[in-house]
Amino acid sequence: MPTAETLALPTLDLSHIRAQFPSLSQTVNGHPAAFLDGPGGTQVPQRVIDAISNYLARNNANTCGAYATSRNTDAVLADARAAMADFLNCGADEIVFGPNMTTLTYAISRAIGRDLGPGDEILVTRLDHDANVSPWLALEEKGVTIRWAEIHEENCTLDLADLASKINDRTKLVAVGYASNAVGTINPVKAIIRLAHAAGALAYIDAVHYAPHGLIDVAALDCDFLVCSTYKFFGPHMGVLFGKREHLQRLRPYKVRPLIDTIPNRWEWGTLNHECIAGITACVDYLADLGRHSLMTTEQEENSGKKHVGTDAFVRPSSEARPSGRSERRAALISAYEAIHHYEHGLMQRLISGLNEIRGIKIYGITDPARFQERCPTLAVRVMNQTAEQTPLALATKLGEQGFFTWDGNYYALNLTERLDVESSGGFLRIGLVHYNTVEEVDRLLAALRGIVKQS
Ligand SMILES: Cc1ncc(COP(=O)(O)O)c(C=O)c1O
Repeated sequence: MPTAETLALPTLDLSHIRAQFPSLSQTVNGHPAAFLDGPGGTQVPQRVIDAISNYLARNNANTCGAYATSRNTDAVLADARAAMADFLNCGADEIVFGPNMTTLTYAISRAIGRDLGPGDEILVTRLDHDANVSPWLALEEKGVTIRWAEIHEENCTLDLADLASKINDRTKLVAVGYASNAVGTINPVKAIIRLAHAAGALAYIDAVHYAPHGLIDVAALDCDFLVCSTYKFFGPHMGVLFGKREHLQRLRPYKVRPLIDTIPNRWEWGTLNHECIAGITACVDYLADLGRHSLMTTEQEENSGKKHVGTDAFVRPSSEARPSGRSERRAALISAYEAIHHYEHGLMQRLISGLNEIRGIKIYGITDPARFQERCPTLAVRVMNQTAEQTPLALATKLGEQGFFTWDGNYYALNLTERLDVESSGGFLRIGLVHYNTVEEVDRLLAALRGIVKQS
């Protein structure tokens, strides 16, 4: 029987992938554009653009009307819910659409807050994006106590002992990110969810940064809520919330009276962005097709004797992520994320070892290769003892002129930049890789950074 080490891994066909993204072929000042800003938002494949424009061209209508385009719109919404249910591994009625993750999180925090008051506690973390902090901090107005889980500053991982010590029988909810959008740390969310449940608290998971990098399985995680944003995984600017059926039914949303009171609709206020919802199905299908194509490429390679096997850096998703009886699309998504994960880790290793060789650059987050499974290919760096020409903004600007799209600042991971005392000096330069990035882009970026750091 093949072991995890000898199983053939799905292979990514980069030219097939990149050909689907029209924006990737752009140039800046004569340089090929390198989109290293995935954590801020990814590019979209042509099929997402087509789904959005086809909806507007043919089906533009409101929902629940007694005519063709309205019925088609209802079907577009149902298809997108089914696609996201496959993506997250839940029921379609547990999928709530909204404008973005932040708005959805405020909707849930306000509803949960209705029943909370003095004596109740909520736990947030120092590592999280502020969108999974401020909506909970707002409940201080109601007398709720907010407690903070701290980090290990040396590698920007959560201090789990500290986190566990702050959960008690007053804790009503634990809000934690699946992965950090600033430094790439992947948190052990399953263990944290267990801790929350053992104390009778709910677990609210921000998977916005994790979604383009790793397979999400809300059933295996057993989280109460999980939020993500499709514009971070090759789709349109929308947010998606998974809520366990029982919570979506039990909690009381602030809603207008005519809106039906069944789930998930009771959480979706006003008219939704139907064209973007059409694009959500297309982005999930893009990923599923990537999985199917990767499996096919792997089979061809195996038949031609070019076997591509697992490395130490790759751990297959556990068997709970491969249950029988799931849809074929879910199975294809599992293959997609195996291929993505393996490919991204190779790119990340190359980037980290190249950055380590540039004198004066410091990487924040996990740099020990033995722990690379606990990080995404999202790198926050700074030049030590930086001059005015070496601030994160100055670096991002110079890189931008050469066609490298990176980001600078805090990216709303404000609690982290403050804790690490880099907020007042420009935050970090963030380099974020996704699966459409190439080895060649990584090598060109390293050469450009070497030049910029040396000259300045
Ligand atoms: C980790 C993380 N959480 C939450 C958000 C907020 O997402 P949205 O823009 O959909 O509100 C972001 C956006 O960058 C993010 O990276």
